[in-house]
Amino acid sequence: MPKVNTKKVTWEEVENWCKKLSEIILESKWMPDIIIAISRGGYVPARLICDLLVVGELVSIQITHWPSAAQMAKEAGVKHPLQCDLSIKKALIVDDIADTGDSIIIAKDHIWTYCRPKELKVATLQWISKVSKVKPDYYAEEVKEWIWYQYPWTRLEDIVGFIRKIIEEEKEIRSWDLDIISKKIIEYYGVEFDKWYYEKALNYLTEKGFLKREEGKYIR
Ligand code: ADE
Repeated sequence: MPKVNTKKVTWEEVENWCKKLSEIILESKWMPDIIIAISRGGYVPARLICDLLVVGELVSIQITHWPSAAQMAKEAGVKHPLQCDLSIKKALIVDDIADTGDSIIIAKDHIWTYCRPKELKVATLQWISKVSKVKPDYYAEEVKEWIWYQYPWTRLEDIVGFIRKIIEEEKEIRSWDLDIISKKIIEYYGVEFDKWYYEKALNYLTEKGFLKREEGKYIR
C-alpha cells in the first residue's frame, strides 16, 4: 500500500470528465454566459468546458493557500481578484476539484460581492464529498475517500513536491539517481511517471540548492 493515496490522471480522463460535465450542464437546461476559472487548477477544465458548451467568455480569479500563523493548516485568500460587472450574466465557476471547498467558498463570496452576477453556479471535475464544505452544482465524479489527484497540469510541480518529501524522509540515503527516485515514488505514491519528469524535477531541486550534483548523482 502506498503511503499517499494518489491517482495519476491522464489527458484522456480529463477530456472524458469535461465531456461528462458539459452533458450534465446541458441536461440541466441552465447555460452560463461566462465561465470563471479558479486559477490555477480550473484553467484547463474551464477552457475545455467553454469549448464543449460553446461559451465565448472566459475570465479567471486566482485563489492561493498560505500557512496561517497559528496552525499548520493553510488559509485561502484572493490573490488576483476579478473586477467585472456580471449583473446581466449567468456565470459558472470552474475548478478542478472541490477538496476542502475553501477556494470555492472564497471565489463565490468575492464574485457575488464585487461582480454581482445574475446567477452563479459551480462545476468541478471531482467532489470529495466526505471533506468538502460545499457541494458543487455540477461535478463529473463524487470521490468517497480522499485521494491526491495528480492532474496533468501539475505533473512537474507535484513530482518536485513528492521528491522533496521522499528525500527529506529518507535521511539515511544521501545519493540519489533516477532509478531510486522512481522506486521510491512507487513506494510512497503508488504511481510511475516518465523519467523525463524525474530528471527535470531533480535539476530544479539542484538549481534551488536543495540537492548537489556530483559524478552523475544527486546528493542531499
Ligand atoms: N488540490 C486540492 N486538493 C487536491 C486533491 N485532493 N488532488 C489534487 N489537487 C488538489
